[in-house]
Amino acid sequence: MNNGVVQLGVPDVQGLIDLEKLCFAYHWTQEQFILVLEKSVFRTLGIMNGEQLAGYITFSLIEDEMEILNIAVHPDFRRKGIAARLLDRAFEICIKKGIAKSFLDVKKSNTAALNLYQKYGYKQIGVRKNYYPDTKEDALLFRYDFEQGYDCNLLKVAK
Ligand SMILES: CC(C)(COP(=O)(O)OP(=O)(O)OC[C@H]1O[C@@H](n2cnc3c(N)ncnc32)[C@H](O)[C@@H]1OP(=O)(O)O)[C@@H](O)C(=O)NCCC(=O)NCCS
Repeated sequence: MNNGVVQLGVPDVQGLIDLEKLCFAYHWTQEQFILVLEKSVFRTLGIMNGEQLAGYITFSLIEDEMEILNIAVHPDFRRKGIAARLLDRAFEICIKKGIAKSFLDVKKSNTAALNLYQKYGYKQIGVRKNYYPDTKEDALLFRYDFEQGYDCNLLKVAK
């Protein structure tokens, strides 16, 4: 079940840039998005509100590892479960592909993202000091092991 989640491609690049600018002070360029949209090791999934992109997630799938590179939801559509739907779909893809573990980094002050990842069972495994170029804030590194037995249906019941 795709739950309203669609795979995005190069024609969606302007929508991604517009949303990225709304959500991040330091955002990806058009060239970076096109690279990610063209290469098969990356996946970008989105949820549309009519013609407008309401949220997206970009992740890589390399061997048995998945890394979340970015996730963002339009400010007008937050706290409505959009990020959760995107993560559910990304996890379903990982399970089907036999991915064993997932990694990500997140700013120490990003409470919304920290809560989201912790809700999905990610555990902190390290810190990169002064990691982010815009604020010099520390990055917290998180890992999730799919062997923990992620079950999409159980998680949906828990939400
Ligand atoms: C982080 C972000 C993607 C969450 O998107 P969202 O669609 O609003 O999240 P959801 O509605 O799916 O919420 C899922 C869970 O995330 C957590 N969460 C989301 N927003 C939160 C907030 N403002 N404060 C605390 N927890 C929050 C909660 O655990 C929530 O579960 P709950 O609703 O049962 O409490 C969104 O706030 C965003 O785009 N932020 C700016 C970009 C960003 O920081 N991206 C992360 C980069 S690492």
